[in-house]
Amino acid sequence: PRIAFVLGTRPEIIKLSPLIRACDDRDVPYVVVHTGQHYSDSLDTVFFEQLELPTPTHNLEVGSDDHGAQTAEMIRGIESILTETRPDHVIVHGDTNSALAGAIAASKLEPSLAHIEAGLRSFDRSMPEEINRVLADHVSNYRFAPTDESARLLAAEGIDDERVVVTGNTIVDAVSQHRDLATRKSTVLEDRDLESGEFYLLTAHRAENVDDPDRFTGILAGVGEFADRTDREVVYPIHPRARENLEELGRSVPDPIRLVPPLDFLDFLTLEDHARLAITDSGGVQEETCILGTPCLTVRDNTERPETIDIGANRLVGTDRTAIVEGAEAMVDRDGAWPNPFGDGTAADRILETLL
Ligand code: UD1
Ligand code: UDP
Repeated sequence: PRIAFVLGTRPEIIKLSPLIRACDDRDVPYVVVHTGQHYSDSLDTVFFEQLELPTPTHNLEVGSDDHGAQTAEMIRGIESILTETRPDHVIVHGDTNSALAGAIAASKLEPSLAHIEAGLRSFDRSMPEEINRVLADHVSNYRFAPTDESARLLAAEGIDDERVVVTGNTIVDAVSQHRDLATRKSTVLEDRDLESGEFYLLTAHRAENVDDPDRFTGILAGVGEFADRTDREVVYPIHPRARENLEELGRSVPDPIRLVPPLDFLDFLTLEDHARLAITDSGGVQEETCILGTPCLTVRDNTERPETIDIGANRLVGTDRTAIVEGAEAMVDRDGAWPNPFGDGTAADRILETLL
């Protein structure tokens, strides 16, 4: 094959889908190596089916584990597949343990390594994602940066310009390929009895938030209070990590928050599009709401997506109850007419043209 894609989690499947499709369109031979980091149907197979992606040629089925054990098992498996299949290029995406494992394995072998979504920085080394993205950037041969700002951050770390290419983010490709389809096909608003512009969308799954009872409780309390005050409901498609933590806390969520299982991409896009406000700690949700013109409140202390803040689409509020209520008040009536900072939806083509 010319290309080996290494992926393992929900956001990687979604954000690599435009590239996999571009390979199909151009008859570029490739293999898909799934690490098995995500394995629940609702985080995994549902996206392969809905985005009409081929079943991965390899699945390492590593499952959940501590960082070292999980990453080590992936590296071992990926190394052996790359040695056997000998692709020209290995593509990894973003900042997950799967991306790091793909990067480490590929960087010590023949193929060139391309890192998509390069140059994002939260400057917070307590996040596993920050470690993963810094390391992947530094061992890559090609770095595809979504924005000029991310390219600038790479240059500031001494990474030479020549193999930094600004392409936009492939999430713009994915959103533009699915937005109309979502409008035509998704019945999530009717099914869940939701009125456009009259509900809030919440996602919180990040380890530093949901593994910390104070931070998780602060988010739920702040969002619950704002929803009460404004007499609107909150839909929270809950990631399994957050659900487990909630069960352990033995606490119910505030009344206006409705928990639903993780949604497929078309339903989730529809909710992002029609929500009055999104409250999130997800990277992808900060980008997608910005692209769709829905205001966003980020319940973190920092973000590696500062472009969304600069243009007024997003605001950082941390996890304190009062700060969340105040931030939500400031964001909820924003009109969404900001420009999209993440490119024109041709990132996948640009990446393939550079590699081939
Ligand atoms: C991972 C990424 C994170 C990304 C997120 C996307 C790392 C370090 N973290 O976090 O950057 O934002 O994916 O959603 O790579 N679980 C299931 N089913 C699954 C997968 C996980 O129930 O299919 C549960 C398990 O209890 C597991 C926990 O979720 O222990 C955490 O899973 P893990 O893959 O370690 O990290 P995520 O929180 O999903
Ligand atoms: N997403 C989805 N269903 C959901 C929640 C999220 O399809 O119930 C999609 C969302 O559209 C985005 C991606 O998952 O493309 C974001 O993944 P996640 O928040 O898990 O990870 P992050 O972006 O923070 O790494």
